[in-house]
Amino acid sequence: MLKTVRLLPLMFGLITLPALAGDLEQPMKKMGFNYKQATKASDPAAMEKYITQMRSEIDDAKTRTMPTAKQEKFLEGLNEVQGELDASLAALKAGDEAKAREHLAKVNDLKKEYHKYAKQKG
Ligand code: HEM
Repeated sequence: MLKTVRLLPLMFGLITLPALAGDLEQPMKKMGFNYKQATKASDPAAMEKYITQMRSEIDDAKTRTMPTAKQEKFLEGLNEVQGELDASLAALKAGDEAKAREHLAKVNDLKKEYHKYAKQKG
């Protein structure tokens, strides 16, 4: 029994280690949630809040473990998404909500394109 107790921190460490290194699942889930909130938001201040959150989730995603063969293309896609988010934020600052929504729609196109690539074999 005592042995098991002593081993607990080690066992815990083994379980949490891969989670710390982390893959894309967690930031992607958050991004998906905040994207939905941003598109549903009825005022520019709320849109800005969710888009800003997405932006930092992409920063997080960029540090995650990715399949080596696909890493370069993944990073390219994540940067493209960030570019659209920045353009959306700039449009909001300029008071152009319609343009901000157009850039958000482009984020969805990029998501579809890169998810298709992510699912490809090899
Ligand atoms: C353009 C660059 C992107 C790349 C390279 C990418 C890559 C990936 C990958 C590899 C997964 C599978 C993760 C796993 O389960 O291990 C994933 C899942 C997912 N991604 Fe993306 N993604 C991108 C953009 C986006 C964007 C823009 C959104 C949202 C607006 C998004 C939302 C999601 C969601 C909701 C999941 C499912 C997570 C889950 O529940 O398992 N992704 N993505």
